[in-house]
Amino acid sequence: MGNTSSHKQHQSLEYDQNKAVDVIIRDDHLLSPHSDADDHSSLTPVALRRQHMEEVTANRPIPSEESFQCAEITWAILSENRDGLGTEVFVRMFESYPDLKSAFGPLRHMNKKDAGYEDVLRAHGIRVLSIVEQVLSKRHNMEEVLSILHDLGRKHLTFSAKVEYIDIVSQMFLFAIESALKEKWNNSTEKSWGEIIRFVTYVMKETMVL
Ligand code: HEM
Repeated sequence: MGNTSSHKQHQSLEYDQNKAVDVIIRDDHLLSPHSDADDHSSLTPVALRRQHMEEVTANRPIPSEESFQCAEITWAILSENRDGLGTEVFVRMFESYPDLKSAFGPLRHMNKKDAGYEDVLRAHGIRVLSIVEQVLSKRHNMEEVLSILHDLGRKHLTFSAKVEYIDIVSQMFLFAIESALKEKWNNSTEKSWGEIIRFVTYVMKETMVL
C-alpha cells in the first residue's frame, strides 16, 4: 500500500514538475506572521510577531520516539551508502529543477561533466546526512538538536538557499531513501523518515523565515 502510493508520488515528481509542487512538503504557516489583519487588529506589530513565533514553535513537528527508532534501524542500511545517497539527492534535484543549480554557490559555474561536479555534490550530500545522523543520535537533547538546525538554517540564508529549495531537498531526500531501502521501504519507514525529514527542514526554516 505504502509502496504503491509513494511510487505514484515519485513518478509525478520526476516527470511532472507542476504536479510535484503539490507533493512537496510545505510549512506555509512558517512563512510570515498572520496576513489576516482583521483577526489581530488589536495587536502591535511586535506582539503579532511574538504570537507568530509562538505558533511556529508550538507547531514544530517533533517526530515520535517510535519514528526515531524505526529510522535508526534503517539508518544502518542508508549510512553504508552515504556517498551515493547524498549525491543522488542533489543530482535528482538539479535534474528536476535546473534553475536551482545557480543557487548552489560552488556549482554555479560548473557543468555536470566538469571534473569535480560530483565531488561537490557528494560533499554536500554527506553533510546533509551527517545532520540527519546527529538528529537521530542527539534526539534526547532536543535543545542541542534545535540549536544545530537553527545555525544550519542561518548559514543557508548566507548560502542563498531559499526556503522553497529546502522543501524540494526534503522531497528528493525521501525518494532517495525509498530507493536505497528497497523492500524495507514500507508504511512505517515511509512515515518515520517523512517525520524526521519534515522536522529537520521545518526547524532549519525557522531561522530562515523569522
Ligand atoms: C535538508 C536540507 C539541507 C541540509 C540538511 C543541508 C546541510 C548542509 C550542511 C551541514 C552544510 C555545511 C555547513 C557548514 O559549513 O557548517 C551545508 C553547506 C551548504 N549548503 Fe546545504 N543543506 C541543505 C540544503 C541546501 C540547499 C537546498 C542548498 C542550495 C540549493 C544548499 C546549499 C549549500 C551550500 C552552497 C553550502 C556551502 C558549500 C558546501 O558545503 O558544499 N543546501 N549544507
